[in-house]
Amino acid sequence: MIPGARLIILGRQGSGKGTQCVRLSRHFVVPHISTGDMLRSAVREGTELGRMAKEIMDAGGLVSDDIMIGIVNERLSRDDARTRGFILDGFPRTVGQALELDRITEARPIDVVLDLDVPREVVLERISARRVCRDCGTNYVATGREHTPWICEVCGGDVMQRDDDTTDAINRRLDLYEEQTSPLIEHYERHGKLVVVDGVGTPDAVFALLTAAVDASRKG
Ligand code: AP5
Ligand code: MG
Repeated sequence: MIPGARLIILGRQGSGKGTQCVRLSRHFVVPHISTGDMLRSAVREGTELGRMAKEIMDAGGLVSDDIMIGIVNERLSRDDARTRGFILDGFPRTVGQALELDRITEARPIDVVLDLDVPREVVLERISARRVCRDCGTNYVATGREHTPWICEVCGGDVMQRDDDTTDAINRRLDLYEEQTSPLIEHYERHGKLVVVDGVGTPDAVFALLTAAVDASRKG
């Protein structure tokens, strides 16, 4: 049987967390828990959370720690995450969230924290070319040669630019990453959980580095 895994992936906006988590989730047979995807689906469904989060997300800000911790705590308590593990993408994002996650996972600790390292200039290029399916979230890279309307090959939904992929919101998100999220790198380094992985390379090459890092952390 394939062993489960309890993983966190950190990395700047546009570093490829979502792209790699889809693959890691299949490889380790664990749910991909993306707080950004959960919020975007709440926005699509028009729930109270979605209405509240949309304005914050479009401006490139962060939803409050209390709300995010509540959502993640509930998701991690479900059977699939309890039995197989999980890969967390986009959470934790502040020291407050990380400390609370340490408490939530005390009985079944995180195996390894993967820091997908991609410089700011490269993520800016990637985000400006990113297009996503509004319905299923599949990622695409725009080349300028696409037909309009652009239809998702997975589900037939509309492929568009994300509402928060505007220049102002991207810069705000990247600044917030340096201020609020990069201190987590030190937090997990102190706990001996951090592995930095070079995220510049083809998606296949990066995936090979990530799986090797998880395997090595298990042997160690
Ligand atoms: P979230 O959805 O998490 O967005 P993000 O952090 O801005 O990260 P991205 O999704 O932009 O980047 P990614 O690393 O997933 O890159 P991707 O794989 O798409 O959060 C959105 C918002 O929700 C936040 O701003 C906040 O408001 C709120 N939120 C979420 N969680 C929260 C929390 N915990 N607390 C508070 N608020 C929260 O890749 C990018 C592009 O590059 C794609 O086009 C892809 O195809 C391409 N690409 C990927 N890999 C490669 C490669 N190796 N080579 C070339 N291109 C590549
Ligand atoms: Mg993402």
